Amino acid sequence: MFSSSIAVVGAALPVALALTPLESFYPPNLNDTAYISDSSIGTYGGIYQAPTRNNVNTGSPYGSYDYCTMPHPRTTEYELPEPVKNGSVRATLVYLEYLQRHQRRTPYNILPGGENQPYNCDDVFPYLYAGPQSGAQAPLAVYAQTYMDPTNPFNEGYVNTTCQFPQLTIGGLLDGYQHGQDIWAVYGAKLRLIPSFPDPKKVWFRSTESPLTQQSAGGVLRGIWPHYSGAIPLHQQNSAVDTVNEGYSCNNRGNVLSAIQSTAQWNDHLSVTSTLRSELGSMLGATSGSWQSTFDHFSDNFQGRLCNGYKLPCDFTNTSNCVTTAQAEEIFRAGDWEWNYYWRNNPDVVEYIQLVQGLFIGEILSRFQDVAKGKSSTVYSHVFIHDNDMGPVLGALGINQLRWPAMGSNIAFEIWKTEGRSSSLYARVLYCGQPIETIHGTLDWLPLSSLIAILQPYVPTDIVSLCNS
Ligand SMILES: *[C@@H]1O[C@H](CO)[C@@H](O)[C@H](O)[C@H]1NC(C)=O
Ligand SMILES: *[C@@H]1O[C@H](CO)[C@@H](O)[C@H](O)[C@H]1NC(C)=O
Ligand SMILES: *[C@@H]1O[C@H](CO)[C@@H](O)[C@H](O)[C@H]1NC(C)=O
Ligand SMILES: *[C@@H]1O[C@H](CO)[C@@H](O)[C@H](O)[C@H]1NC(C)=O
Repeated sequence: MFSSSIAVVGAALPVALALTPLESFYPPNLNDTAYISDSSIGTYGGIYQAPTRNNVNTGSPYGSYDYCTMPHPRTTEYELPEPVKNGSVRATLVYLEYLQRHQRRTPYNILPGGENQPYNCDDVFPYLYAGPQSGAQAPLAVYAQTYMDPTNPFNEGYVNTTCQFPQLTIGGLLDGYQHGQDIWAVYGAKLRLIPSFPDPKKVWFRSTESPLTQQSAGGVLRGIWPHYSGAIPLHQQNSAVDTVNEGYSCNNRGNVLSAIQSTAQWNDHLSVTSTLRSELGSMLGATSGSWQSTFDHFSDNFQGRLCNGYKLPCDFTNTSNCVTTAQAEEIFRAGDWEWNYYWRNNPDVVEYIQLVQGLFIGEILSRFQDVAKGKSSTVYSHVFIHDNDMGPVLGALGINQLRWPAMGSNIAFEIWKTEGRSSSLYARVLYCGQPIETIHGTLDWLPLSSLIAILQPYVPTDIVSLCNS
């Protein structure tokens, strides 16, 4: 009975609301706190459930907002830019900048009283070894095997688990393979941009310092090059100064976030959810500020369960008192509201994006400039990052509505070169496989210079002063 009620989260609502898959990305009233309290919205066509392994079709239409397995470019749905498709322009794809959040994983946030279910990661091996650049013998391929020693008294009240949270799950790894295979089919086999082997002059990869993003890279890149037997560099900046995942420290970032979280709108979203927060707080022992002041922790904990074949949590002292589908849906709507608010709809949004992601956006623009100047030998760059990196980039693009950028969510910046004497560069931006819908229109075909002009205001001229101001 419990699991059939959870299936409703995924299956019934798109039909009830008669949404196309693409519409599920853009709830028109997301910036209103009434969106959170209106239970008839359900998940607005979103899907928040996946089996442990990803080899079961959840029955959702491909292309829908699917928290566990976000859609990505696939040959069956991929369309050429309209003027190329209709023959009014002849153009070739010359560059792809691909950003993606890691694939699905276990949660970061364990319930304060522990979890009422074991979390199993025995089916995925996180490899960890260092090898010599050349010459000496290769190392033995050791992997992490998390276990619990029964004599450790701190096990009590934690989780019965073989996972290190928030590690990638087997479902995430398998989805990564699929993601890579589909990227190859579109950008390798069809459009002939990605080379048949990872030629370091033409391809470039980056992750954060977080194992999750590195593990996702291994899966996705294997999907792209299933037979390549060598190793590939995955670039990282030092985590103390990294321009992704809030690596460099920046005082003003905290000040601006506090201001954002003190507005009347922010407080309104907390008041409309006071009943929900107090019910879940007492059921799950989650009454501290870190659980109650944003919807980050509840969302993370619930999606970590639902996306990996587990159920919603229950009260430890009364195992029949469990989080309901309606409560989980309200948590997810509140989480979406917060993401839209952080990156689209707060009074300090431009400065906040500059502080969090301005340098990274600047790095992307300098690669675009290199392409424009004909100085780039790289044709394909792929960066494996986090939701808190995707959100600001989507905000800078002016996405019409921003739901939480979910597992494996992706942005494909395509640069096309038109043929003929007055050859010029055009851009197009896909979000999860479809041209992104923004306040600047649908970014299906615009001069590269116009895309740069959209993003440039988010690149601070002096980040050091801005951080110290
Ligand atoms: C939501 O966005 C729409 C369109 O941008 C705007 O007209 C409306 O005032 C916004 N509402 C809130 C509560 O911010
Ligand atoms: C092709 O598509 C472009 C962009 O939508 C449009 O401006 C143009 O008129 C179309 N041309 C033809 C021949 O349909
Ligand atoms: C932990 O979970 C495993 C199954 O995943 C079970 O066999 C074992 O008994 C559990 N241990 C405890 C202490 O609950
Ligand atoms: C346990 O929870 C169920 C479901 O919420 C409720 O009906 C029942 O009364 C609770 N039992 C106790 C002893 O509180």
